[in-house]
Formats: sequence, structure tokens, C-alpha cells
Amino acid sequence: MPGQFRLSIPELIKECAEAHSLGIPAVTLFGIPKMKDEYGSEGFDSDGIVQRAVRAIKDKVPELLVITDVCIDEYTSHGHCGIVKDGKILNDETLELLAKMALTHAQAGADLVAPSDMMDGRVAAIRSALDESGYQDLPILSYAAKYASCFYAPFRDAADSTPQFGDRKSYQMDPANRREAVREVALDIEEGADLIMVKPALPYLDIIRDIRERFDVPLAAYQVSGEYAMIKAAAQQGLIDEGRTIAESLLSIRRAGADLILTYFAKDFAHLDSKG
Ligand code: PBG
Repeated sequence: MPGQFRLSIPELIKECAEAHSLGIPAVTLFGIPKMKDEYGSEGFDSDGIVQRAVRAIKDKVPELLVITDVCIDEYTSHGHCGIVKDGKILNDETLELLAKMALTHAQAGADLVAPSDMMDGRVAAIRSALDESGYQDLPILSYAAKYASCFYAPFRDAADSTPQFGDRKSYQMDPANRREAVREVALDIEEGADLIMVKPALPYLDIIRDIRERFDVPLAAYQVSGEYAMIKAAAQQGLIDEGRTIAESLLSIRRAGADLILTYFAKDFAHLDSKG
């Protein structure tokens, strides 16, 4: 991904200080562990990379909101978002790991936890784990409507999290299915999600609009790695104007109804914005 890097904790602090000074309100962390294993153990280790990173940011750039991605795929050797047995994803067994992971993020000082795994029932599992440990006030940003999209390819390449077998279609949503998004969001809100997210963004503007019209909770949209990479690649070839394309894509996501946008263009856009 052009312009996107894996960072050490000192580099991350510099990046966060810069983001904060540009007026970017929040960052989302994704971790790359030293070792991947079957259960993604480093993901729920209180000394894991993300947990240490959260503590460092909250120490050095305390005003920047830190959102953590709650999912084991970056930490598992098979690259799936759930525990695997005999080639199948075990939904319910995975919930315990996700709850543990969210709790270690909370203990490190995360401001929001964002489950992106799409296991059924994970918002409720995370909510009760947080509540039991005194984190009743910590909000959950749920990736409620997450499609099984080919637009995640550059991220998976960057995070080495491409599934080693099969695909994610048993837990992520079918791109052809519009109404399922509404059911997924309703379930997550019922389970205790405070904010919800639609992902990807630009190819799913109809979904953003559907959700905006039906639910009255803060709505986020994730402009994913493939959306970012396409604009960067086209701009590098001189085929489009990068700044204008970034601005129009973000405007479109906003117009569809998103209150918040998670985007790899945050710094680029902040620079454009400051130039008017
Ligand atoms: C799963 C996760 C993924 C992304 C964010 N969280 C990968 C996936 O579902 O395969 C992709 C984000 C992007 O493409 O920018 N932990």
C-alpha cells in the first residue's frame, strides 16, 4: 500500500502526534505480532503489540482517541477471524477470545473497541466482559455490516492475514445481499453496540444510506485498503487528480449518511483541507 507502513512504537508515537496536530480526532490500531499461532494468542496478551501501543499513545498523545480493532485474524497462523477446527470456523468458541482481547485493550487505555470479526454474538460477549470488569462506560464501535469484499486485498497483504485456506464468506456478508445489513445492524445495536460501521464504503453507499434512514446511532464508514490503493494507483499514473478524487470520495460517503469516516487518506485530506 503506497504511503502506508508498519510502524514500531516510537514511530507510531510520531505518527500520532502528527495526526493530532492536523486535527485528526482518532486512530485505529492494527497489530502485527511476532508470532502467529492457531488461536492468535498475541492478540489477547496484555503485553501484546497493540496493548503496548495503546499505553504508549495514551501516555504521549493522550488527547488522541484510540480505537482498537478486535479480531484475531492478524494473529492467527491460518489467517481466519475465528478458531478453526476441521476446516470450519467455530463461532461460539471464538467469542471468549474476542472478549478477552477487548478487555486487554480496555485495560491498556483504549477509548473505543471495534470488533471487526463478524462472529455472531460478539458484541454481547464483549459488552458483558467489559461491564464485569468495570468498563461500563467504554463504547463499542461494531463493524456491523462488513461484506466479504475483494477490496480488502491490499490490507491482507500488508498484514499477512490472507486466509491460508478457504475464504471469509461463512462470517462476512454476501456483497449481493442488501437487507442482511439491516438485520446485522439491528442485532448489534440490541447486543449493545454504541456506534456501528459499514465496510467497505464507496461501493456500499446504498447500505450506508439504508442504515442511516433506519437507525439513529452514530454511523461510521470504512474506506478500505482497496479503495485507497485504486485512487493512489490511478493518481500515480496521472489518470486522475488525487486531491480532488480523495475529496469527492469522502464527500460521497458523507452524503450517503456517514457521521465518521475511517480512511487511509486522513492525513492527505487534512493537508488538502488546510489549503482550502
Ligand atoms: C479484520 C480486518 C480486515 C480489515 C480490517 N479489519 C481484513 C479482512 O476482513 O480481511 C481490512 C481493512 C482494509 O481493507 O483496509 N481484522
